[in-house]
Amino acid sequence: MDRKEFLNKIGFGAAFALTATCLGSCKKEATTPSGPVDFTINLNDAANAALATTGGYVITNAVVIAKTVNGYAAATVICSHEGKQQITYRSNNNQWYCTAHGAAFNINGTGVSGNGNASKGLTIYNTALTGTTLRIYS
Ligand code: FES
Repeated sequence: MDRKEFLNKIGFGAAFALTATCLGSCKKEATTPSGPVDFTINLNDAANAALATTGGYVITNAVVIAKTVNGYAAATVICSHEGKQQITYRSNNNQWYCTAHGAAFNINGTGVSGNGNASKGLTIYNTALTGTTLRIYS
């Protein structure tokens, strides 16, 4: 039986349902953390004003950039749990936190929330400061 015969036998509705199911699952699988990163930001730009204060963070290029008590840190905004782009920085415990389902990661990306949602860890990027230019890179 070829593809056309198969589709004729099961009918268009079933074919649509199968296609929709596949697209749904494919979308879910495409939520792994983003690939290589290498860009710079200017800390003097108004858009980056939050980074003037310890505990502040900005999100740009799908990366969360935070000013921690130990300097600048960066992580993907894409959570490893279900791929929601809801990673934030919590200064009170120096952690990355996903507002979707509560996954928490230490500053090095290791899951610490204990609810299983952070078990895959979080992609962390390097930072390097030169003057007022902050480089974020893989
Ligand atoms: S998507 Fe982040 S905790 Fe579920």
